[in-house]
Amino acid sequence: MKIGVIGTGTMGSGIAQVFIEKGYEVILNGISESEIKNGFNIIDKNLDRKVKKEKITLEDKEAILEKLNICVEIDELKECDIVVEAIVENMEVKKELFKKLDEVVKEDTILATNTSSLSITEIALSTKRPDKVIGMHFFNPAPVMKLVEIIEGVASSQETVDKVHELCNQISKDPVMVKEAPGFIVNRILVPMINEAIGILGDGIATKEEIDKAMKLGAGHPMGPLELSDLIGNDVVLFIMEVLHKEFGDDKYRPHTLLKKMVRGNLLGRKTKNGFYKY
Ligand code: 3HC
Repeated sequence: MKIGVIGTGTMGSGIAQVFIEKGYEVILNGISESEIKNGFNIIDKNLDRKVKKEKITLEDKEAILEKLNICVEIDELKECDIVVEAIVENMEVKKELFKKLDEVVKEDTILATNTSSLSITEIALSTKRPDKVIGMHFFNPAPVMKLVEIIEGVASSQETVDKVHELCNQISKDPVMVKEAPGFIVNRILVPMINEAIGILGDGIATKEEIDKAMKLGAGHPMGPLELSDLIGNDVVLFIMEVLHKEFGDDKYRPHTLLKKMVRGNLLGRKTKNGFYKY
């Protein structure tokens, strides 16, 4: 089975890594030579870390990387059995990509999106195969987090759902089924919680360290909400809040002004080396 992954950011490269580590042949597609190099470097570094920790040998690393092919042309994905898209969270850009993909890939290829909150149904409508379009939502860091949310659009067929479910099992992920709805399960719960933590900080009620410590020690979270926001990307957190706010129309989803201010100031978290914390 050949897997296509589109997008060379943290999620795209993380997803590609998951598949090659399980022995799948992957074609990782990015928008430019420098972007695909960036994706390759993320995977290479992650595998190096595993070698250093003696989780894998250098030979294992080389064998894993053998499975990875990189390309900038969408046409090169034509032989893939499933393509997972992990590009920018912009509906128009995604629709354009899916339309193009639909023309390039085989008739029975499944087109999956890793979108964090956009409508699978709407993305599917840009193709002539809405039954084969589905959400496959991985979590950051993708090589570590066990969950994949499998999101059924209105037209996703049972056959597509079953195939993606089986594939998740093959890559040792533990999927949950979700019917399409804004934010699905995790982001609908997690992202408003992060927004609330930002509100507590913005209101001057506690410091960032105290907020994060409180949620780690008081609620058993592996990371505090502010350090997690920096990991996810504060722009992504804002985007998801905006989708929830727009779709539900409920004021409880209004993004906090501090979050908006930080995104305007390019304090996006780990990716800009500056967010709630400095990196
Ligand atoms: N990439 C790859 N591997 C990573 C990694 C990364 N970015 N960060 C950590 N790891 C690996 C480490 O190498 C280590 O591997 P090992 O067990 O084989 O040695 C393992 O993960 C544990 O890492 P650490 O010991 O360094 O640190 P922690 O035990 O604190 O774990 C964590 C790090 C897994 C990130 C943990 O803090 C955690 O689970 N945090 C919460 C993450 C979370 O909630 N993610 C979901 C975000 S929401 C989302 O992604 C949806 C999107 O739509 C917004």
